[in-house]
Amino acid sequence: MDTPPFHFLYFLLLIPSTLALDFIFNSFNTTTNLTLINDARVESPIIRMTNDTNKFSLGRVFYHTKLPMKPSSNSSNITSFSTSFIFSILPDVPNSPGFGLAFVLCNTTSPPAALSSQYFGLFSSAKTATVFPLLVVEFDTGQNPEFNDENNNHIGIDLNNILSKKQTPAGYFNSTGSFVSVQMNSGENIRAWIDFDGKNLEINVTVAPVGVSQPSKPTLSYRDPEMANYVSPEMFVGFSASKTNWIEAQRVLAWSFSDSGTSRELNTANLPVFKRKSASSLSGKAIAGIAVGCFVFALSCASVFILLYLRWRKNKRKEEEDDVEDWEMEYWPHRFSYDELSIATKGFQTVIGYGGFGSVYKGTLMNKTLVAVKRVKHDSKQGLKEFMAEISSMGRLQHKNLVQMRGWCRKGNELMLVYDYMPNGSLNKWVFDKSAQILGWDQRRRILVDVAEGLNYLHHGWDQVVIHRDVKSGNILLDADMRGRLGDFGLAKLYQHGQVPNTTRVVGTLGYLAPEAATAAAPTSASDVYSFGVVLLEVACGRRPLETDVVVEEIVLVDWVRDLYAGGHVVEAADSRIKGEFDVDDMEMVLKLGLACCHPEPDRRPTMKEVVAFLLGEDATEAPGKVLSDLAHGDDNGGGGGGGRESNEEAPLHSSIPI
Ligand SMILES: *[C@@H]1O[C@H](CO)[C@@H](O)[C@H](O)[C@H]1NC(C)=O
Ligand SMILES: *[C@@H]1O[C@H](CO)[C@@H](O)[C@H](O)[C@H]1NC(C)=O
Ligand SMILES: *[C@@H]1O[C@H](CO)[C@@H](O)[C@H](O)[C@H]1NC(C)=O
Ligand SMILES: *[C@@H]1O[C@H](CO)[C@@H](O)[C@H](O)[C@H]1NC(C)=O
Ligand SMILES: *[C@@H]1O[C@H](CO)[C@@H](O)[C@H](O)[C@H]1NC(C)=O
Ligand SMILES: *[C@@H]1O[C@H](CO)[C@@H](O)[C@H](O)[C@H]1NC(C)=O
Ligand SMILES: *[C@@H]1O[C@H](CO)[C@@H](O)[C@H](O)[C@H]1NC(C)=O
Ligand SMILES: *[C@@H]1O[C@H](CO)[C@@H](O)[C@H](O)[C@H]1NC(C)=O
Repeated sequence: MDTPPFHFLYFLLLIPSTLALDFIFNSFNTTTNLTLINDARVESPIIRMTNDTNKFSLGRVFYHTKLPMKPSSNSSNITSFSTSFIFSILPDVPNSPGFGLAFVLCNTTSPPAALSSQYFGLFSSAKTATVFPLLVVEFDTGQNPEFNDENNNHIGIDLNNILSKKQTPAGYFNSTGSFVSVQMNSGENIRAWIDFDGKNLEINVTVAPVGVSQPSKPTLSYRDPEMANYVSPEMFVGFSASKTNWIEAQRVLAWSFSDSGTSRELNTANLPVFKRKSASSLSGKAIAGIAVGCFVFALSCASVFILLYLRWRKNKRKEEEDDVEDWEMEYWPHRFSYDELSIATKGFQTVIGYGGFGSVYKGTLMNKTLVAVKRVKHDSKQGLKEFMAEISSMGRLQHKNLVQMRGWCRKGNELMLVYDYMPNGSLNKWVFDKSAQILGWDQRRRILVDVAEGLNYLHHGWDQVVIHRDVKSGNILLDADMRGRLGDFGLAKLYQHGQVPNTTRVVGTLGYLAPEAATAAAPTSASDVYSFGVVLLEVACGRRPLETDVVVEEIVLVDWVRDLYAGGHVVEAADSRIKGEFDVDDMEMVLKLGLACCHPEPDRRPTMKEVVAFLLGEDATEAPGKVLSDLAHGDDNGGGGGGGRESNEEAPLHSSIPI
């Protein structure tokens, strides 16, 4: 060993290996040198990406040193690499909307403004592409129609943007060339291979269950010279994942990487196996968990027993009505049992609100999640069945500005809908309630944008148009961060895109109802826009749509603001309690936008897409719409209407237009 040739050889081996990045982890433990960001942590022998108890959780893990990707920023000599890893994705509730996992190359471990939930904890939003070079392979277990996701189990290539450049269903080609699909969120240990060719700018991705050797044909192959623009001289390499309400355990079990040849073969013997709710876990904590679980179970058994007894005594004859019928099992999201909800709400004790269709109760689920349970009465079981079909699709709607539905339960002709609990209540309280703290303008405005985005998602972000039909400040709820969320889809109906909505009975709330809704009774997205316009006005003016304790001319908010507009001083409508907090031009824009939304003719109202663009101050020419462009130059001739401009000039905001 002391002879010179050996030293020489040793050095030869050493030099390339310090330049190259070549590593293998067949397991992880707390001494493993990794950069863990946010909620990612090592739970020996694996890495767990998110924290179940945090509603919005994101985690990233990176190899501790950066990968040299090219000698200088303008060089086209880009490093090739090969990597392979084993992951497991296990949602708590089968078929719940998933989030998945991303393999990522980035020049920072913390891309700015990264969002959790469906953004993998990497991207900021679909509209604004992340500025940092970000080359991502997504293993997505959820379908987000607004990102053009094909299905809820796909892999995709993302360059700085959550909108994938290419995506394909998860699976692999077996030795006879047949495609074998792979369900990524089954909890099964799944292996991924990623090969990146820096010269030809091509990336290949393959997934297969552990035990299947690397297929010769990749599942996804993407070649694009543009990829060079998403590579910076040095990049961190690792994983990122995130979640919202739904618990989904994303785990990385093993990982090998090489930028100088094929990554080393992983040892797949003795890998841990993860199964839903099987408590046979690894640490002492789990045993403590089991003990606590048993105690809770015993406790809940006792309470179930007591409750059952009380119910039996109280109402023996209604028992059979709780039978679960076949059709009920088809629906998603989660079906709760009546007893579960009864326990969660302590026998429906705490009423937190009354809606047109029933009361809302506060509850705590077994896993300590706070929920709001809405009880809706219905005339017939058939009606309920139809209603459920709608509710169940709506349970799949996921957007940061919608109140998430967690599940439901039927008992006789009564439906219980379980939603996330919104600790800060509804917006009207914060704007009208004399006793409560009054919201400032910045917060109000942010909430308006939130709600506009939520409604825009319902109207345009989904394969079906969802009409809310009861947009009002009482249905806008504020989450723990005081962000606005649109709630109460109890009234909404689903329509296929392009299909003429059926005529149904009028629903909605007086003061927010579009004029055509009262007569034609055919709700459209335009009637939602009208209601949102009223919300814009009431929030800006700090006044209910119908006030009873003011002088006659001011009774109908929309008319009052329109009159002020006609008189050329619309800004006087602004809430006097927040005077000085707002930029006058901005306030004027919001008020005028509110009026435009409340245009008596549905066709002349802007779409929610346009409303969002306007509120965000995005280029108005991008999303014009007649009313909006009128509005944009409509300042000088206020209520005149005779200004001799285009024919539709007079219409939108004319003072004499009746509501
Ligand atoms: C932790 O992992 C490293 C490799 O990353 C290994 O060398 C070490 O023995 C492990 N330690 C324990 C306590 O398992
Ligand atoms: C998850 O987050 C909560 C609080 O945010 C924290 O108390 C808890 O320790 C975290 N859990 C893990 C496993 O890191
Ligand atoms: C972990 O990696 C960092 C970055 O290369 C290095 O500075 C540090 O010394 C390493 N720590 C250990 C314990 O190896
Ligand atoms: C690349 O940039 C460096 C300085 O940033 C410059 O000196 C060099 O000429 C550039 N090379 C090419 C090929 O543009
Ligand atoms: C490309 O860069 C690598 C190091 O990153 C270097 O070893 C190689 O010589 C370069 N090739 C060319 C053609 O410049
Ligand atoms: C990462 O890239 C962005 C955009 O090119 C640049 O502004 C930023 O300084 C880079 N950050 C690091 C740490 O290199
Ligand atoms: C490949 O998959 C097809 C379809 O699932 C199956 O019929 C075939 O037997 C498979 N081939 C091998 C070699 O497993
Ligand atoms: C990707 O797959 C194609 C088709 O099998 C193959 O020709 C190509 O060499 C692969 N590229 C990389 C970077 O592995």
